Amino acid sequence: MEKKHVIVAPSLLAANFLELAKEVDMVNRSEAEWLHLDVMDGRFVPNISFGLPVISQVTRRASKVCDVHLMIEHPEQYAEAFQKAGAHILTVHAEACVHLHRNIQQIKSLGMKAGVALNPHTPVQILENVIRDIDVVLVMSVNPGFGGQTFIPQTLPKLRRLRALINEHQAHALIEVDGGITVDNAAGIVEAGADVLVAGNTVFSASNPEAIIKQLRNV
Ligand code: DX5
Ligand code: ZN
Repeated sequence: MEKKHVIVAPSLLAANFLELAKEVDMVNRSEAEWLHLDVMDGRFVPNISFGLPVISQVTRRASKVCDVHLMIEHPEQYAEAFQKAGAHILTVHAEACVHLHRNIQQIKSLGMKAGVALNPHTPVQILENVIRDIDVVLVMSVNPGFGGQTFIPQTLPKLRRLRALINEHQAHALIEVDGGITVDNAAGIVEAGADVLVAGNTVFSASNPEAIIKQLRNV
């Protein structure tokens, strides 16, 4: 069987913020195709990360696809600002959007790819009426808000249900998995349906992060 193409998206949340330029340069040199940027507002999730001023500088330095994961309330108020800050993919949480269909159209009309993220408790069926409109489904495999948590095993059957939903609707969304991914569990996650692996601590706390990215890419 032909080997599946796996996209690796290192999550900058786990980087050394005092050395951000070096960390972005490492990702640029690596086999990662996306750079994952986690935005937290202290309301939708119980933590605050970084925002627009950091992201606009990082995207200028990065040569990869900039994949912005908004863990914020009212993402529609910020979509244009993130587009101006250099986001290529903008992902909003289904749980944060009362008018998810409208939010998706807004992101696409701004020229970005649209992603929808699902918390661990949110069933994939919630996407059935928008699955053909979106470019990425981001399946949270930990509760969002913090790096370095443990992968929730129920994510694996959920990925299979999502793959079935995508096939059933002849949709083309990529499946991205975020949280607790290691070199040991990555193969099972890809086998269950993931196209994109987000990895924070596994990449940035490694002594040779580029080698880890290569390993994840080739699981
Ligand atoms: C968590 C973030 C993740 C996080 C992943 O809320 O969405 O992207 O950075 O970190 P690790 O890979 O360390 O679990
Ligand atoms: Zn994330």
